[in-house]
Amino acid sequence: MNVYDATRMADLLGREGYTETGDEADADLVILNTCHIREKAAEKIYSELGKLALEKRAREAEGRDMKIVVAGCVAQAEGEEVLKRQRAVDLVVGPQSYHRLPELLKQAKQGRRLTDTEFDVEDKFESLPQPSRAQIRARGVSAFVTVQEGCDKFCSFCVVPYTRGAEVSRPVPDIVAETRRLVDAGVREITLIGQNVNAYRGPDDDGREWSLARLLAHLAGMEGIDRLRYTTSHPVDMAQDLIDAHASLEKLMPYVHLPVQSGSDRVLKAMNRKHKAADYLDIVRRLRKARPDVAMSSDFIVGFPGETDADFEATMALVREVGFASSFSFKYSPRPGTPGAERTDQIDEEIKRVRLAALQALLEEQRQAFNSATVGRTVDVLFEKPGRHEGQIAGKTPYMQAVHVSGPADMIGGVAPVAIVAAGSNSLAGRLLGKGEEAKA
Ligand code: 5AD
Ligand code: SF4
Repeated sequence: MNVYDATRMADLLGREGYTETGDEADADLVILNTCHIREKAAEKIYSELGKLALEKRAREAEGRDMKIVVAGCVAQAEGEEVLKRQRAVDLVVGPQSYHRLPELLKQAKQGRRLTDTEFDVEDKFESLPQPSRAQIRARGVSAFVTVQEGCDKFCSFCVVPYTRGAEVSRPVPDIVAETRRLVDAGVREITLIGQNVNAYRGPDDDGREWSLARLLAHLAGMEGIDRLRYTTSHPVDMAQDLIDAHASLEKLMPYVHLPVQSGSDRVLKAMNRKHKAADYLDIVRRLRKARPDVAMSSDFIVGFPGETDADFEATMALVREVGFASSFSFKYSPRPGTPGAERTDQIDEEIKRVRLAALQALLEEQRQAFNSATVGRTVDVLFEKPGRHEGQIAGKTPYMQAVHVSGPADMIGGVAPVAIVAAGSNSLAGRLLGKGEEAKA
């Protein structure tokens, strides 16, 4: 979501005459697009800002200016606090206010320090300009499209409902138009994104609400799209029509990121997740029935307040039962303002550390096993960029695995069958199939 938001801010500021630079020392404007999900992520911002403040001062000594903007969820959650804590910051802007950046920057140039963290009724997306064909091309063949923002679930550990606000779905025609533009400029893979993407309920032209499955089916009919994905989903919203879409839509990739957080019903209840471990296992079973090769991915939290050894073991058991292709796992981080942070039975840091290490060892073993199982198979790869070595190109399998092969650069942007010959720790090595070989594979 933050990557997508950053590109939209760049599109918007491009219209104001700004161009992107990879070099901080060259920038007249630095925007930190921030994450507030865990304490570590939020704290990183202040250390980054400290460095930028020094840069800004050095610049001012030379008579040049550098504006510093804090955007994203830290901006939303801390607001004015950011301006107080770091004097060098000019502007604090929450995720719902990006479309006002040009106006806010004008005011900042007049020396005002401002905060804008309003939740708007006005449609942010439609006031953000679309990227040019050249910008789309420069960003590659795989692109995100936001279809939904915000969250009404209020998991007791999570700040998202507070920083991103209530669930809002974008209208179908807007999503179709944005997707068409991307595809016309050469994008081949679209990932529909939202904090709760499978809770999507957007209106069509007649005001009828579409589910995510219906939206995916419609986009699958668009010529030029090779691959569709969606992320992130909640188990409670994993409707049967979405599961069925994995059987009926060839373009829908067999990879589902479905966070479970914990394998213990007691902890799931305390987390306010509204599903049990068995519900999750049942979804996985139905997904695999629809699409036997579907790869599962998840998020996990260890050390939620009150988590016992038995609760943690239940998480390990769930992991063993499912077998994940990839995953993200975290130590619980108490977030101010969330119910979890109020609890008096917080878990000791050392216990969290030990549990996380055990979980990550198991998840890593599963990831490696999944990758090794691809060796000897032939899979379609969407080539995205040149490889690290001369004469190589790199891309992704349907299961999100990185692959590199020897091949010509003009294959970038296309899908081709690849025989997987070896699995490294972070990517697979493959061989492009010659003419005639494809049929054998
Ligand atoms: N502590 C640790 N991890 C968290 N996540 C969300 N909030 C917290 C928290 N307070 C994790 C969840 C979520 C992912 C995006 O971040 O696993 O799915
Ligand atoms: Fe946070 Fe996801 Fe729970 Fe919403 S569903 S509160 S975004 S963890």
